[in-house]
Amino acid sequence: MRRTRWILALLALSILLVACSKSAPQNTMNPKGPTAQTEKNLLVLVLWPAAAVFVIVEGGILLISIRFRHRKDRDRMPPQIHGNTRLEIGWTIAPAIVLAVIMVPTVSTIWQLARQPADAMQITVEGYQWWWGFRYTDPDMTVSYGDHDAIVTADVMVIPAGRTIDLSLTSLGGGAHSTSGVPDHEVIHSFWAPQLFGKQDVIPGETNHIVFSADEPGVYWGQCAEFCGLQHGKMKFRISALDEADWQRWVANQKDPAVKPTVGAAQQGMDLFFGTNGVGGQCIQCHGVGGTAASSTAAPNLTHFAATTHECFAGCDFQVFNPDGTPNVEALKAWLRDPNAVKLGAKMPDYGLTEQQIDTLVAYLYSLK
Ligand code: CUA
Repeated sequence: MRRTRWILALLALSILLVACSKSAPQNTMNPKGPTAQTEKNLLVLVLWPAAAVFVIVEGGILLISIRFRHRKDRDRMPPQIHGNTRLEIGWTIAPAIVLAVIMVPTVSTIWQLARQPADAMQITVEGYQWWWGFRYTDPDMTVSYGDHDAIVTADVMVIPAGRTIDLSLTSLGGGAHSTSGVPDHEVIHSFWAPQLFGKQDVIPGETNHIVFSADEPGVYWGQCAEFCGLQHGKMKFRISALDEADWQRWVANQKDPAVKPTVGAAQQGMDLFFGTNGVGGQCIQCHGVGGTAASSTAAPNLTHFAATTHECFAGCDFQVFNPDGTPNVEALKAWLRDPNAVKLGAKMPDYGLTEQQIDTLVAYLYSLK
C-alpha cells in the first residue's frame, strides 16, 4: 500500500516535470503561426471556465463527502430528501448558459479556420505507411523537365515563411506494396504540427484542408496523430520555413532534374539504382527521381535527397546529415542493409545488398543535392 502510494506520487511528479522541458518542438502552447495562435486562444478561453467548473464540482463533492461522512459514534440516519425543483432547474440552466457563451467563439473560430484564401500556396499532403509525401500543386511550382509535373518532396515540407499555405490532405495507402494502381492498406492518418496548426484527419478518398502559415523562418516538427499501423509513432515530418532568398534558391534547385554523376562510386550507385548494367534496378520500381525514367510514386521521391533542407528520411526517423553537416552515412547504410532491422514494418524490402553495393548507393544518394 505504502509502495503503491510512492509509485503513484513519483509517476505524478514525472508527468509534472515533463512540462519543464526546455526543448519541446511540438508544444501546442508555444504557437509560431496565426492558425496555431488562433487555436491556442480558443483553448485558453475555454480552459478558464472549464477549470472553474472543475473546482466547483470536484470541490463540492470533496467537501460534502468529508463533512457528511459516516462516523462511528453516530448511527442516526440523516433526513432523507427527494427532489428540489429550484436546484434542479438551476443546475440545468447554468451549464446551458455556459455552453451557449462558449459556443460563440468556438463556432466563429471554426468558420475562421475553414476559410481558404484564393492566393494561398497549394500543397497536397499524401499520407503513406509510414511517411509523408508533399506535392507542390501550385501553378508556379512546376518542374523544368518532364511534362511540367509538380515539385515533389518527402518527409520535409519546405515553405516560404509568412506566406499562407493551403494544404490538401489525402491518404494513399501502403505505398510500396500497392499493386495495379490500387493502394493497399488504406488507413486514416492525422497531420499535426503543433506549433503551426492543430490535427486534421487524412482520409483515403477524401480531401481535407489545413490553411496555415509560419511567422518566422525555422524548422517545425510534426507527427502523425492517428493510429495507422506498426510505425504510427514514427510517422514524423518537418516543416522548414525559409526566408524569401532561401526560398527562391530552394525552388530553383527543386525545379532542376536530379544530377547524373558520371564518375566513381556515385555513378556505379546510379547504375545499380536503375539496373543499367543488368544488375539491380529494384529501386526504381517504387522511388521516383526527377528527370529520369524513375517515376513511381509508391515510395519517397529522391530527386533532391541530399538537399540541405531534406533533414530526415524514412518518416523522419533518421537524420540525413550529422550535426556538423556531414552526410550521416551510417544511418543510410543501416537502412539499406535491412530497413526492417532499424524500422520494423517498413515497406522497403531487404534486397540483400553487398557492402560494396551499399557504398555506391550511398554515394549516389548523397550526390542528389
Ligand atoms: Cu500515420 Cu499514424
